[in-house]
Amino acid sequence: MTTPDNEATLEIQHLIRDFKPLDGDLLGALHAVQHRYGYIPKIALGVVARQLRLSEAKVYGAASYYSEFRLTPPPGTLIGWCSGPACHLKGGDHVRRILECQLGIGMEQNTEDNRIGLHFAQCNGTCERAPQVWVDGEVVGPLTANATLDLVRKLKDGA
Ligand code: FES
Repeated sequence: MTTPDNEATLEIQHLIRDFKPLDGDLLGALHAVQHRYGYIPKIALGVVARQLRLSEAKVYGAASYYSEFRLTPPPGTLIGWCSGPACHLKGGDHVRRILECQLGIGMEQNTEDNRIGLHFAQCNGTCERAPQVWVDGEVVGPLTANATLDLVRKLKDGA
């Protein structure tokens, strides 16, 4: 059974119109959708599947397998917790526990209101600021327990 076309599906069809029914185009089509919406909406899975003549399960499989794709809208603020060795040695795990506890979420999750998300990040070479996080890409560190609590408080307050 196919989904009737509406404005959203037509827009996605237009977005991926140049991708051909070959496996090689699947990731490109998913990237195009994510680039436009910031994530891959559920409705897009069917549109991509139709365009590339693949099953929706196969498209979902690729979208959920590759970590660069998001299947949920990005949070308002994204905290990247550095999982690198210098941050680990300088107390990064403690920072992570505080973040998870204060936000009430685990890694790779967003708060219920989708305002704040927490995800794993890799060392970017700014280890002199360890232990650190990135808030929407901005380095924040070195973090103490109190500085982490302050950070969460400010983010919750929308500062
Ligand atoms: S280990 Fe965290 S920034 Fe390098």
